[in-house]
Amino acid sequence: MATIVSVGSGKGGVGKSVIASNLALLFARMGKRVILVDLDISGANLHVMFGMHHPPATLTDFITGRVNSLEGVAQEVEWGSGLRLIPGTGETLATANLLFAKKKRVVRHLRQMQADLILLDCAPGTSYQALDFFLVGDIQLVVATPDPPSVVELYRFIKLAAIRKVLMIGLARGQKELKAILMEKEFDSVQEILDTIGRVDKASQEKAEEVLREFNPLFVLNQTADKTKLSIAYLQQVIYKFIGSELILLGEIPKDEAVDQSIRIFQPVVDLASKSPAAKALIQTFHSLQQRLGDRIPALT
Ligand SMILES: Nc1ncnc2c1ncn2[C@@H]1O[C@H](COP(=O)(O)OP(=O)(O)O)[C@@H](O)[C@H]1O
Ligand SMILES: [Mg+2]
Repeated sequence: MATIVSVGSGKGGVGKSVIASNLALLFARMGKRVILVDLDISGANLHVMFGMHHPPATLTDFITGRVNSLEGVAQEVEWGSGLRLIPGTGETLATANLLFAKKKRVVRHLRQMQADLILLDCAPGTSYQALDFFLVGDIQLVVATPDPPSVVELYRFIKLAAIRKVLMIGLARGQKELKAILMEKEFDSVQEILDTIGRVDKASQEKAEEVLREFNPLFVLNQTADKTKLSIAYLQQVIYKFIGSELILLGEIPKDEAVDQSIRIFQPVVDLASKSPAAKALIQTFHSLQQRLGDRIPALT
């Protein structure tokens, strides 16, 4: 079964798609069977990054039932080496607000695909759409830029992802009383939801705490500049203190004109300008991710 890596962010425009597409290409170049999925349905742009202007089928075709398998939607990209893309164009009200059951169906079909690695380029922000797909990842990667609004939104994103994760555990454990309480209340903090669960059932609280300890997203800081002042250590401390998660720095990618250029000519920057500062940092980030994935994906084929 394929390993799923999800890529999320608090804010749009931070570089999620740039990072997901370049990492996907690098894994494919190693001989992995890689599928990149554009789940940012309202801002889908991965197909454009690969110069695929009119994809013959998209995720929407699968969701609406026009195509009945994801294998029928995935298309090999031009720079490929076996990299396939599930494009995400074609927003409708139904795809913008997918019901939980439909999301589960997408995930079930994804897990059955012929692949070693599946990269999910999730929608930004804290809608259920964004959070639920992000939480599907066996490995979760978050992206932010050093500007304060992006960092604030990253914190909010991780907090709400943690709350959603704990909520799902509480609901899955299924006691009627607990379910009723969790469904009717909005939670502002991780501690608040843990305390609420604990008042009903100590064992569920312990389970939730255990799950939170394992919720340690990998972090890519993108578009850094020499004057970048963000203290990553401070951000890590705050997230650990208030959410209980460790934020693991995977890579830092500089702001680099080569990225814009690569987007303009529809070719990933690791291909177009492999010696540029951004490409070098992306390759380093890829190596770190590869190490973290370890035995999860089969050795080079
Ligand atoms: N490292 C970088 N250096 C320069 N520009 C970048 C970099 N990363 C992203 N960008 C710019 O930011 C824009 C948004 O990136 P994108 O990956 O589409 O964001 P997201 O998927 O998070 O919405 C890109 O079109 C590109 O112009
Ligand atoms: Mg994007």
